[in-house]
Amino acid sequence: MSKKILITGGAGFIGSHVVRLIVNKYHEYEVYNIDLLTYAGNLENLTDIENRSNYTFIKGDITDEVFIRKLFRKYKFDSVIHLAAESHVDRSISDPLAFAKTNILGTMVLLNAFKELWQDKWENKLFYHISTDEVYGTLGETGLFTETTSYDPNSPYSASKASSDHFVRAYGETYGLPYVISNCSNNYGGNQFPEKLIPLFINNIIKNKALPVYGDGKYTRDWLYVVDHAIAIDLIFHKGKNEETYNIGGFNEWQNINLIKLLCLQMDEKLGRDKGESEKLITYVKDRPGHDLRYAIDASKISKELGWKPSVTFEEGLSKTIDWYLDNEGWMKRIVSGEYEKYYKKQYK
Ligand code: NAD
Ligand code: DAU
Repeated sequence: MSKKILITGGAGFIGSHVVRLIVNKYHEYEVYNIDLLTYAGNLENLTDIENRSNYTFIKGDITDEVFIRKLFRKYKFDSVIHLAAESHVDRSISDPLAFAKTNILGTMVLLNAFKELWQDKWENKLFYHISTDEVYGTLGETGLFTETTSYDPNSPYSASKASSDHFVRAYGETYGLPYVISNCSNNYGGNQFPEKLIPLFINNIIKNKALPVYGDGKYTRDWLYVVDHAIAIDLIFHKGKNEETYNIGGFNEWQNINLIKLLCLQMDEKLGRDKGESEKLITYVKDRPGHDLRYAIDASKISKELGWKPSVTFEEGLSKTIDWYLDNEGWMKRIVSGEYEKYYKKQYK
């Protein structure tokens, strides 16, 4: 069956992998990608599919209510896959209001336009909201986040994402709007903006710059290769049950410092450096305020119900990721000039 899908934030990191997968796999679907092209959005992420006949890019702001309502009336999207967001925790600490605007108001504007368009004619319609494991707060040394873990967000970013999740559920309960939500762990891979740990450190290693490790480096994250997240999103979009939540994770916990050491080793090998050379760049810096100690996902629901599991080991995924950044030096070069330099100086002064 044909579909008319609006993907939001498709020029960003995860969004571009989702757009690519859906456009390439479902030729009969019409895929519309709306993105404001903020500092994090980059049409270079999509050059390989930009001329496909089933793909249209629209530059626009999800918080612009008038524009979004008109867009829904014009194209009559039957489904939305909503990824557009402000996504970086450190930026949410310095500018929390920007996160409330995009992540909460933006989600509500989309929900409202979807509701207004379809009223109660909900057959074959779906609003798929992409969220994060950070809504659950932090874990201690043990335990895993399940779909029923209580929300307990700690950063302005995670609070804004938690709020948007609540609004999606509220529109489901109140107006019968069909929805699914997925909460995923830390993604890594090609096309990720170098404000996040892995691409920032890869870029610094290449340039022999200090590697700024927050606090004691003993914080733990559960890492998932971005292509595996996109595959999970495709599966949930087509097979997920209405009003359900799915946790997505890599079964792959790493303390930051151990991950960084592995990254340094792989980089030494790929750059032809002596073993241990890149590790010398590690520099402990001031901690992130409110830094969550540990995230880890119990992904058994999506695994049992939808048959999903990660396709690569972390070592393989990390190696592919490093290769992507080494093969795409121009992509990185164009990003790390200008505004990025200012951000970097302010964040790591
Ligand atoms: P990203 O920052 O790389 O991309 C966000 C995209 O949204 C950018 O292209 C940006 O231009 C666009 N955007 C921002 N504000 C907009 C607006 N007002 N209107 C239209 N477009 C706008 O983010 P990402 O890492 O790809 O994350 C995508 C989604 O996945 C987010 O909702 C994030 O919360 C969620 N998520 C991310 C991770 C992760 O590890 N990166 C993990 C779990 C969930
Ligand atoms: O868990 C999912 C979340 O993962 C997503 O919802 C977010 O959008 C995404 O940004 C990510 O959040 P984190 O804060 O975990 O990712 P980040 O890459 O910023 O940091 C990962 C860990 O590395 C964290 O413990 C902080 C640490 N870190 C990060 C940077 C940028 C450092 O030690 N030094 C750094 O310079």
